[in-house]
Amino acid sequence: MDVGRSFIEADPNFREDVLAGLAAAIPAIPARWLYDRRGSELFEEITNLPEYYPTRTEMALLQRYSRSVAEITGRGDAVIEFGSGSSHKTPILIEAVEPSAYVPIDISGDFLRESAGLLKQRFPLLPIYPVEADFMKPIALPDPVAPMTKLGFFPGSTIGNLVPWTAVDLLRAMRDTLGVGAFLLIGVDRVKDEEMLVRAYDDAQGVTAGFNLNLLHRINEELNGTIPVDAFRHKAVWNDKMSRIEMHLVALEDVEFTVEGRPFAFARDETIHTENSHKYGIRDSRLLLRAAGWGVAKEWSDPDDLFAIILAQAEAPRFAP
Ligand code: AVJ
Repeated sequence: MDVGRSFIEADPNFREDVLAGLAAAIPAIPARWLYDRRGSELFEEITNLPEYYPTRTEMALLQRYSRSVAEITGRGDAVIEFGSGSSHKTPILIEAVEPSAYVPIDISGDFLRESAGLLKQRFPLLPIYPVEADFMKPIALPDPVAPMTKLGFFPGSTIGNLVPWTAVDLLRAMRDTLGVGAFLLIGVDRVKDEEMLVRAYDDAQGVTAGFNLNLLHRINEELNGTIPVDAFRHKAVWNDKMSRIEMHLVALEDVEFTVEGRPFAFARDETIHTENSHKYGIRDSRLLLRAAGWGVAKEWSDPDDLFAIILAQAEAPRFAP
């Protein structure tokens, strides 16, 4: 029997997002679809690029300050990780905090089992309760975790992929999931020199270009697309007004193609917007957290303030004057 790719059913949400996104007045496809197997591999490669400072800067901050985090949060908590992904950073925090339980939350069951398995090998005595869920919505935590004090973990500046409006929704949902008094350790990428930002998203080796263009390959494979991938190029620009890096795919010539049998046409220089990566100044990130009911307990950054890890605490609602 043929078990080729054409028999694997594409995710209906992917189909819907691509068809609607390509037909939109300003064509755009949500960034989450960049992360198929190949896309996740390419992102892994991005994190090792000399130009891509966020991962190594955040790792160094976690190595340096996880003990200070534990001093504030206290030990014996449950660590709840949002979008656990490959979980490279988790062991550093777990070693410092020595939690009584670890709850990885991810929308992809595959990733979840993989990261839970790896953590189990490294910390055989640590109870792990994986939750397959969309963390944009409040989540019922597993029963054994309910009475524990909670430390949420959201590294990688993933928050930057969301527009502030949605970022506040997410931070509020996290607050609802974790409860008043809970802590959240979140990684945030800072506003900085434009040249450094653009280079981080348009590297010399073209890995980020490959990562972006892979989305078109994925559409061709999973949604029966006929997109001439070579007719598009990767573009990364700093949008100062929105305080974000944007990734686009730019048509190099007039192109016509079909996806799932539907026709699309792009004129030369028209773009498909594929990702936002918002950057926050010191006061920006404080306001973002405050808008969602989180106060800043402490924040740490590198000497050049390229990246910050922020320990926030869910505030009780109080009467304002
Ligand atoms: C996964 C959100 C941390 O925005 O920096 C890296 C994704 N895109 N290079 C980021 C990404 C292009 C990345 N995050």
